[in-house]
Amino acid sequence: MLLLMASAAITYLGALAYSNRIHDRNLVDSAMALAQLLNQLPAGEKLTAQARFLLEYDPYGRNYFSIRSMRHGLTTGSDELQPPAHSPLPDRPAVLYDTVLLDRKIRVASLVLPNRYEPSDLLTVSVAETLEDRRRRAREILLLTIPTQTALILAVFALVWFGVNYGLRELQPLTERLARREHDLAPITDADVPEEVQPLTRTIDGLFGRLHSMLNLQERFIADAAHQLRTPLAGLRVHADRLQRLQSAEETADAIGQIQRLVERASRSTSQLLSLTRAQSTQVHDLADQTINLSSLIPELVGLRVHEAIAAGIDLGYESDAAAAWIHGSPTQLQELLDNLIDNGLRYAGRGSMVTVRLSQAMGEVLLSVEDNGPGVPSAYLSQLGERFFRVPGGGGDGSGLGLAIAQRIAEYHGAALRYHSASQGGLIVELRFPASPPGREHEPG
Ligand SMILES: Nc1ncnc2c1ncn2[C@@H]1O[C@H](COP(=O)(O)OP(=O)(O)OP(=O)(O)O)[C@@H](O)[C@H]1O
Ligand SMILES: [Mg+2]
Repeated sequence: MLLLMASAAITYLGALAYSNRIHDRNLVDSAMALAQLLNQLPAGEKLTAQARFLLEYDPYGRNYFSIRSMRHGLTTGSDELQPPAHSPLPDRPAVLYDTVLLDRKIRVASLVLPNRYEPSDLLTVSVAETLEDRRRRAREILLLTIPTQTALILAVFALVWFGVNYGLRELQPLTERLARREHDLAPITDADVPEEVQPLTRTIDGLFGRLHSMLNLQERFIADAAHQLRTPLAGLRVHADRLQRLQSAEETADAIGQIQRLVERASRSTSQLLSLTRAQSTQVHDLADQTINLSSLIPELVGLRVHEAIAAGIDLGYESDAAAAWIHGSPTQLQELLDNLIDNGLRYAGRGSMVTVRLSQAMGEVLLSVEDNGPGVPSAYLSQLGERFFRVPGGGGDGSGLGLAIAQRIAEYHGAALRYHSASQGGLIVELRFPASPPGREHEPG
């Protein structure tokens, strides 16, 4: 309907313009004919009644004419029809203009010619008509075209309807195949998918892929959590039973101590598992495109652990020769990574040892390392560090065996390589090499 209305409006305006052009030409012709008639009229003779009738005859609207002498005023015709504000030069083509006569809009053609019988006088000949006839013609043209236009629009509508239906029928097999799937997240790019739809199916495949790995991650998390919590929970039950039966204050204190240790272990396991799952589900594009200056971030993070280190009897230090070391990455993830490395140092190096965090920059790389002078890890086990749940046998201490796996995963999507070495005087060195990035705009704290 809207199309039809728009098309009708455009047709009407076009037809009106066309009708105006033809009527204007006729009006000018009439003015010229009247001028010619005047030239042939003997001096002093008036227009005949027939001539007046012909000039003023119009079955649909009204026609007017007037002949004015510059000297004597109106000679013949309607007095209401005023000459143009700027009269044209004598013997020039007629001018056309719109005006209002007796509250009706009219169109006037006017021309000026010398008075044949009085050389110093000029005559203005004006012919005018109301606008009804022009509009009527435009309406007629419009009425002629409406049926064709309606038919055309209906035909296009039918074609589109048919085309869309036909096109969508091609998708029927795909729709049915997808409806039959239940938990299958395999890619859908089959041979029979129409070429136009393939970008869509490829996008859905990408989504399926991400969903699949997320579901895997979730399943693994649930399995790991169940496995990790089973041991501490069993221990808790044993010690709770003991508590009920025990009477001696010494044994009670021991049972409570065991319970506290087990609860701590369970909560550590849970939070480490959550961290690992979070790190694994982070995509490279999730890393806000943030440039970080490690030479201001790392000392800050090390500073946060100093009190804890003092309490554990460990000398925690920071060394750096880099004035600025910019990398792309996420500060919170880097904090998680460094926390796990410092945590291991504090936990396994033993009282009285030193844990040193170092930062340096060389050849487009930013080098971050955490070194301690504790017992270290036997070289046979170095290659296994970073595996989920791997703990060095006889390594002692409580832990879930996930810290280095978390660190490795975070390093990975920062594009950093993570390596383990044994320090020369014993102890473990964990080393990270980040690709350096151009300095960011972030203001560096003094
Ligand atoms: N600095 C270190 N010195 C000696 N042994 C270490 C050091 N860092 C890690 N290890 C050994 O590597 C193992 C794995 O460390 P990881 O941080 O992955 O797990 P965790 O410390 O046992 O548990 P958590 O998930 O609580 O950190 C540890 O159990 C420990 O035996
Ligand atoms: Mg650890």
